[in-house]
Parts: sequence; structure tokens; C-alpha cells
Amino acid sequence: MSDEPRWGSSIRTRLLIFIISSLLLMVAGGALVTYWVALHTVTDAYDRSLLDPVFDIADNVRIEAGTPRVDLPSKALDALVYDKVDKVMFQIRSPDNKIIDGAVDLPPPPPMSAGEHMFFDGAYGGEPIRVAALRTATGFVVQVGETLHKRNRLVAEFLVAELVPSLLIALAAIALAWFGVAHGLKPLESLRSELLGRAPRDLRPLSAASASVEIAPLLRAFNELLARLRDANTMQQRFLANAAHQLRTPLAGLQMHLELLLRRELGDDVRAEIERMHTATVRASRLANQLLALAKAEGPADRRSDLRVVDLKSFADSAARDWAPRALARKIDLGFSLEHAPIHGDPLLLPELIDNLIDNALRYTPSGGAVTVNTGSETTTSYLTVEDTGPGIPAGERNRVRERFYRVAGTPGDGSGLGLAIAQEVVDRHAGVLEIASRNGSGGTRVRVSFPRSNSAEV
Ligand SMILES: Nc1ncnc2c1ncn2[C@@H]1O[C@H](COP(=O)(O)OP(=O)(O)OP(=O)(O)O)[C@@H](O)[C@H]1O
Ligand SMILES: [Mg+2]
Repeated sequence: MSDEPRWGSSIRTRLLIFIISSLLLMVAGGALVTYWVALHTVTDAYDRSLLDPVFDIADNVRIEAGTPRVDLPSKALDALVYDKVDKVMFQIRSPDNKIIDGAVDLPPPPPMSAGEHMFFDGAYGGEPIRVAALRTATGFVVQVGETLHKRNRLVAEFLVAELVPSLLIALAAIALAWFGVAHGLKPLESLRSELLGRAPRDLRPLSAASASVEIAPLLRAFNELLARLRDANTMQQRFLANAAHQLRTPLAGLQMHLELLLRRELGDDVRAEIERMHTATVRASRLANQLLALAKAEGPADRRSDLRVVDLKSFADSAARDWAPRALARKIDLGFSLEHAPIHGDPLLLPELIDNLIDNALRYTPSGGAVTVNTGSETTTSYLTVEDTGPGIPAGERNRVRERFYRVAGTPGDGSGLGLAIAQEVVDRHAGVLEIASRNGSGGTRVRVSFPRSNSAEV
């Protein structure tokens, strides 16, 4: 299943869709009501004025010598039905429904009683028209029809007058909603950046103090989960430390017995077998030690109280004594150039860091090479560097070698790939930086660890 959020699962999208569609619906509803009201108002007003010429004509219909006729000069009649915008036409029908004057194509009137008038819609020459009709007391029917141009124009003007401001208001409201929603969701955005900016193993609770009412319960639930993870982590570290610790004693015993055995007279094949067992036991012991160091370095992140003012120089000094025999055995020139390097550090963890860096340098540098350890301090940092003339670590591998159990392909020996992971963990615990480079850009490895310098005079 993909972890990509489904379309529409965004709170912002859902809020915006809801707000925008409600606003558009309101605008459309407003437009419909305006159209309906405008249509009725306009129809009423123009219908009333359409009735005037009907009455005028009706007043002038006479029967002279048994023949009905309109008693108006044709100019006056034309003036009665003149309009600038619309086509206006009249029609007069006799009581027996014969057209006696006017336009023949006007639609026939609906049944009406004498004296009654009415309005109806029809068509004239293919165009929609509105007709006013009157049946006079004498039974004649007078009709005046007109096309709908000015009515339609007025309705459209009403609509525009209503729609333009409400569309502008809707657009302003949409813009406000857009910014409002973005502003409202800002706390989520900052929570996200806080989570993304965290170190992978930082399980400290998130601060719920300044969180908004909606997010605070989520934060509390998340913090409970973090607390459970911290507990699980601590248990796992404790188990790892215990297991490694328990393993060390029997392994040391086994190694000692094998060494005693090797001092005896043995047949060649038995000696070779026991030597292999001895190598494997030394390897297992180292692994147990490395696992124990890793578990110690990984310990709970809030153990700031274990930090005190220490000098990297004194750790490097004792390392010089510890590692000299090994360097001699491997015919490597191990040099130390040590200046004071005060930091706030954990005196149990720092030797693990230094030992692993020197161990790597001595292990991977061929006989005849040189390893140099420096300590010192600058304005704000204290540092320790370990340089060797060995094969170097390829630039593309310099981050991966800090991962647990990772070894560069083709590396000789039987290390477990934990040394630099331990070093990185110890450096992280001290808010320091571990940099891997090549020595003066000319091959070899240069590992530099730097920490915030301590200015206290306690050292
Ligand atoms: N000074 C060095 N010169 C060349 N390669 C190195 C050096 N230090 C580390 N490496 C490379 O980085 C890898 C990881 O080193 P790391 O110390 O983590 O593990 P390891 O030495 O293989 O095993 P462990 O230290 O646990 O016994 C090594 O396997 C090696 O390939
Ligand atoms: Mg190592």
C-alpha cells in the first residue's frame, strides 16, 4: 500500500473545497433569486405600460353603418404602438373573432369575458413576444404585442448589478479563506519541521505547552508513544549491555585456557586447530566488548549529569601507553602531539571513541606506515585527530562506515563494523562532529572529532 496521502485527505483541501463550494452555491442561489424577482418586477411594469395603447385603441373602435372601424388617423395609431427598442404590433378582432385591423400574425387571444383583460406569452415572426389583450363591452378584442428586448435587457442589468458585487465579495472571501486556512494550519507545519529536524534516535517528548487546543491531545498521545519507545529502547540497551557483559567472562576464560593449551607440546594439526579456535575466541571477545561499548554509548540521551570537564589530552596520553606495544608489533610509527583540549565529556565513553579510532588506524595501515594522534583547542572547539598513511576510506563510503556492522568491501581482518558506529554515537552524545577525510588530500585517513570547548578551569 502506498504511503502517499489520498487526494482529498488533506485538511486544507477539504476546508477549501467546502468553503469555496458553499460560497459559489450562495452566489448562484442569490443570482437565481435576483433573476426571479427582476423578471416579475420587469414583467409587471412593462405589462402595465403595454395595456395603455390597448385601452386607447379600444376607446376608438366604432361601428359605423354596420362595419367596425378604428376611429383614429393611421399616424396616431402608429404613434400609439411606436417603441424605440421593441417591435410593437396591434390587432383588432370583431366579436365573431374576425381580424378587422392590425397584424394578422398575432396569436389568437385566450377566451375572455366582456371588459376583461389579460397578458400572455406568444411568438411573432419567430420571436417571443408578450401580448396584452382586452375584450371590450361591445365584444371586440384588442391586442397589443411587443418583443421582449427591453425587458430582457433590464433583467440582465438587474442580474449584473447583483452578480458583480457578490462575485467580488465571494472572491475576497475565498482569498481570505485561503490565507486563513494556511495560517490556521501553521502549527501543524511547525510540528512537521520539528519532527523532521530531529536526530534519528532523539526520543525526547515534544513540547505541548504552546500547542493549540486541537493539536495538544495529538501531541500528548504522540509523547506517550515516544515514552513507550524510550522504555523499549532502554530495555533493549540494558539487555544488550547485560548479554555482552555476561558473554565477556566465559569468553575471557576460554581464551585463557586456549592460550595455556597452546603453550604445551602439541601435534601440528591439533595446534593449528586450537589456534583457529583461539582466533575465533579473540574475535568473539572483541565483538562482545564492542557491543557493550555501543550499548553504553547509546544509553539514555538525558544523562547529561555524567558529563564533567575533562581533557582529551589525558585520554590520548593513556592511549599512547596502551597502544605502543601493538604499534611496535606492527612496525608502525605511532606518534602523539598533544595540547590541552578541555571539553565537557563522559570519562567512561571518551576512551571508547579514542581506542576505536586508533585501533582502526593501526589495523588498516600496512607495516612501515605511520599513525599520528593530535589534540588541541581553538577558540570555541577542542579536537582530536587520528591520521594514518593507510589505504584511506573512499569518499563515497565515508558516511556509510559510520553505520553499524558496515565494512568497506575488501577490508582485510575480521572486524565487526562497529568501531565507527560507536565513535559516532559517543561524538553525538557530546554534541560534537566527526569528520572523515583523507590525509592532506594525499591518501591515508584523517579522522577528526571536535567538541564545544569547555572554558572551565577545573581540568
Ligand atoms: N583508518 C582506516 N583506514 C582505512 N579504512 C578504514 C579506517 N577506519 C575504518 N575503515 C573502514 O571503515 C570500516 C568500518 O570501520 P569500523 O571501525 O566501524 O569497523 P571495523 O574496524 O571493521 O570493525 P570493529 O571496529 O568493530 O572491530 C572498516 O571495515 C574499514 O573498511
Ligand atoms: Mg574498527
